[in-house]
Amino acid sequence: MAVREILSVEHPMLRRKCTKIHHLDAGLQRLVDDLIETMHHANGVGLAAPQVGVPVRLFVVQTPDDVDEPHAGELFVLYNPEIIKKSDLYYPEEGCLSMPGWVANVPRYRHVVIKGRNRQGREVRIKGEGLLAQALQHENDHLDGILFFDHLESMDQLRRVEKAAEPVEV
Ligand code: NI
Repeated sequence: MAVREILSVEHPMLRRKCTKIHHLDAGLQRLVDDLIETMHHANGVGLAAPQVGVPVRLFVVQTPDDVDEPHAGELFVLYNPEIIKKSDLYYPEEGCLSMPGWVANVPRYRHVVIKGRNRQGREVRIKGEGLLAQALQHENDHLDGILFFDHLESMDQLRRVEKAAEPVEV
């Protein structure tokens, strides 16, 4: 396993539409290990493959243990995800590991159901709420080259935050 470099928002890789995965080979399993290690190293809640320079439809998500929500602390690896249900729009605060030190309140759904394949290639459905739902939407966006601030009416809505008080970065 290795910590990989997280690309920053200016990198064109983050604007690519990522390709679907058809074979879960050893290289992909290594990529999953590296995504997990890199996410933990950066203290993030999620990380998508294009953020480390690989334009495929894969991300990992793990909310903190102490969040009072279903699946808190559970690690999810998802290939070829697709959001199949969403409800209850709100505007939580959000940041991105590719744009450290900046946050904004972006429109997200409080409840989502997402389907995809897990690390073993089995089809799974994840019912997420709150922070988990938010992270699933944020990471899923990365696979289509969409960044969180694309949901804002103006870049003036971005706020600077202190490194020490960093909130949700996904
Ligand atoms: Ni992000």
